[in-house]
Amino acid sequence: MAEKDFQASLFKNEEFLSQDECTKFAQIAFSNAHLCIVRSSRYKFLGYPFDYASIYGGHNADMVDGHNQLIQSEFGELLERVRSYFEGYFQEKVVTQDGLSLPGFNFFEIPPCTLLDTFYHLDDHKKELATRFPLLRITPESPTLSFTILMNEPKDHSSGLTYFDRNDPIGRKAAGHKQENQKHYLGFSRLQIYKAGEINFHQNLLHSVYAKNNSQLKQTRLTFQGHLLKLDEGLLIFW
Ligand SMILES: [Fe+2]
Repeated sequence: MAEKDFQASLFKNEEFLSQDECTKFAQIAFSNAHLCIVRSSRYKFLGYPFDYASIYGGHNADMVDGHNQLIQSEFGELLERVRSYFEGYFQEKVVTQDGLSLPGFNFFEIPPCTLLDTFYHLDDHKKELATRFPLLRITPESPTLSFTILMNEPKDHSSGLTYFDRNDPIGRKAAGHKQENQKHYLGFSRLQIYKAGEINFHQNLLHSVYAKNNSQLKQTRLTFQGHLLKLDEGLLIFW
């Protein structure tokens, strides 16, 4: 079953953290927000996402180590929960890799009365990972999975994921368009609204973050997220 789940298209969500736990972790994350990597006025990260590093920032070992230490010391309990959840779900060992970022927090700032821009993509950075970590024996076929835990539910805000199966012809068409023209396809995709505390994971889906702020105030959508990559040595967890 584990093997099967890791090959097929999949979306799954399950209760994971209590509301009190979400509040506790969100408070720690917000109190460390000054340590975030700022990507733009709307996106910042506690943790150093590998795709961000490889596309925008270049891989910086000191930054990776610094953020990993922070995640370990402030959120070690959360990380351990995620790790044991996936070990139980897939009946496989979850492993980490020195020099590769641990899961972390994404802070999305959503202006008042705004729907976040749509961007359909597949989460796939295996080529860059294989180049940086040749000993891991990553192949283009190594299955990957992405997980997200929503930590807060601001008032008058809904957030989640819109998605198409990887081979859905409409989804492929959407992904072929420029980001600013992808909104037309939103209505054809499936929408999964996240609840704070649930763990959501998906693989092989063309997907886009969905976040809609109906209030008159700006809001921050806080998620803890990362990826799992199936390798001979186990499930590599990273972000
Ligand atoms: Fe993604």
